[in-house]
Amino acid sequence: MTSAELPRIFEGISFPGHLHTLESLQFAISFPFQDQDILIVSYPKSGTTWVQEMVTLICSRGDPSLTQSVPNWARAPWLEHYYCASVLGAASIIYVSRNPKDVVVSFYHFHKMANFLPEAETFEEFLKKFLMGTLSYGSWFDHVKGWTCQTATLENLLHLTYEEMSLDLHGAIKKVSSFLQHPLLEEEVNNCVQHCSFSSMKNNNMVNYTLVSDHIMDHSKGCFMRKGKTGDWKNLFTEEQNHYFNDFFKSNMQDCALDFVWEVQ
Ligand code: A3P
Repeated sequence: MTSAELPRIFEGISFPGHLHTLESLQFAISFPFQDQDILIVSYPKSGTTWVQEMVTLICSRGDPSLTQSVPNWARAPWLEHYYCASVLGAASIIYVSRNPKDVVVSFYHFHKMANFLPEAETFEEFLKKFLMGTLSYGSWFDHVKGWTCQTATLENLLHLTYEEMSLDLHGAIKKVSSFLQHPLLEEEVNNCVQHCSFSSMKNNNMVNYTLVSDHIMDHSKGCFMRKGKTGDWKNLFTEEQNHYFNDFFKSNMQDCALDFVWEVQ
């Protein structure tokens, strides 16, 4: 690892070095948002790429020309994580969350292919770090609580879950287009659904990350568009890990009154 690739510690959170500098992280938190801006906010592996595709398609009225010719990072760039409360007055914010058990499993598999993240260890060790909040990008619990519990009454924030997109993609697209005040004809919604499907996105080089070099993501070790399913945690968690996770979740989320759809799944 060169010094440019060493992780950056910013406000106590570790970020992969090759994507972040202290200046870029500082820039992100002081970015001057405009009212017409749209922010997609999420903890890694929660469905960020899916919502980037959905929002681009809604703004293009379901026409896939842009999503099939421009890489997703060029049409929905990352400002990097954590935006301070003072920017919340402006812009439309879509906060994306996912069942944390599926997040940790997806993140674990992603560590195997992402060379900019530390080596993947055993799942047991990885799970402990996820719960302790010591993985890159910090704590899932702090992220979700910060963006949902304290912002529940904000009118410019829409909370969207991976699970509701999985259950009813058509309904989720209508919800986002209406939130963005960008109403669509039924045929346009149907086109968005088609191009946001897992199979379309898996085959679209502009969003499936196959354009990224092997030096950054080792494509022989996995696919970014891996499974695209809910409940994959059941294939990796032991019964003991599941109990431990449930207890940890209960005690850490008790101060958060929100109902999450994935709690019952
Ligand atoms: P899996 O690893 O469980 O397959 P992010 O973009 O926030 O990093 O999230 C990546 C996760 O979202 C991966 O989950 C990826 O497969 C999934 N994903 C991306 N596009 C999707 C789609 N159209 N339908 C379902 N899942 C999708």
